[in-house]
Amino acid sequence: MAISDETRAARPAPSATSATGRKSALYGATDVRTVEGVVEDLVGLPMPQRPDTLNDLSARTKVRGERTPRFPFPIPNGWFIVARADEIEPGRTKPLFYFGKDLVLFRGADGTPYLFDAYCPHLGANLAVGGRVEQGSLRCPFHGWRFDGATGACVEVPYDDIDFIPKKATARSYPTVERNHMIWAWHHLEREAPTYEVPEVSEFDDPDWLPIHMRDFEIATCCQEMAENNVDTPHFMYVHGTPAIPEEDFHIDGPYKRSIGMDGNFVREGFGLGLGVLRVKGYTTFISSTTPIDEENLHVRWIFTSPRSLGPNAAEKAARTFTNAVSQDIPIWENKIYKDPPVLRPSEKAITEQRRWCQQFYSYPDGATRP
Ligand code: FES
Ligand SMILES: [Fe+2]
Repeated sequence: MAISDETRAARPAPSATSATGRKSALYGATDVRTVEGVVEDLVGLPMPQRPDTLNDLSARTKVRGERTPRFPFPIPNGWFIVARADEIEPGRTKPLFYFGKDLVLFRGADGTPYLFDAYCPHLGANLAVGGRVEQGSLRCPFHGWRFDGATGACVEVPYDDIDFIPKKATARSYPTVERNHMIWAWHHLEREAPTYEVPEVSEFDDPDWLPIHMRDFEIATCCQEMAENNVDTPHFMYVHGTPAIPEEDFHIDGPYKRSIGMDGNFVREGFGLGLGVLRVKGYTTFISSTTPIDEENLHVRWIFTSPRSLGPNAAEKAARTFTNAVSQDIPIWENKIYKDPPVLRPSEKAITEQRRWCQQFYSYPDGATRP
């Protein structure tokens, strides 16, 4: 199962460092066919659980050599987690890379979080490197222009006596909200306003429930592929080894989606393409969040809590169960393509419904149409 030192040495330098600070799972130009030994050991039906691969990207199995894009979608529109709330103090900045873009997250003096594209509209300095937070605005380290947090508009050019600042001197600012101990940003390819809200998960601040326990990891896939897993009921039997194919009721309303299974004991609510809230009665409530790093890579955050009555480690135990299970999906996701159209059995019509539902979360600016 282990990768030889020789194979490791042959691996190219990582093509990017992700927002998690770990080596990215991005497919680099030569980053393929490096783990043949692992492939030989990996026999499915069900897939083996390999929780060690969650945070060790070098232990992942990736064999794909074709260079064509794996998914025919742009980065979806929606609310996505960009940081844990405790990752950034008031008055501080933090560089991020999500949505295929360099970004700067900062908190105003009053604690309000703001997110900008990182590059200053003046001459392109990275605002996350030396930028200074002043009240609810950010001052560029290069020539001192100052940008309003909420709108991104330049509100001061300190060395020029001008009474008109052109509109072009505006940093792209993303709507943000702090909720469920996380900072969320609204990404929309055509910069339109949010069309739904981030739900409040009441258990996260309920004294009868444990403090949140978060697990995060990267996966080389896209939001839609990961979300499709939930409606792909046969895979539970063949990938995860459940004794039967589970049955679920599926309800859709605009950007909202709900599935109910296990005689009502399992409820999964979806809010757009990056955010699910799962409740397993008497066991756990958790947020499943997928933030696009770029078109083919995700930063997944799973945030668990469990009733205190189950003991102090209950949330951690639930996290272990779910992360063990997702380690079975990862080699499938990271080596597959999106098949369009797929060949489906009538019993798999939920996949078609899900794909139709997903279309509302994509924009094709500049007149581009869906491929
Ligand atoms: S590059 Fe930012 S003020 Fe000049
Ligand atoms: Fe799965």
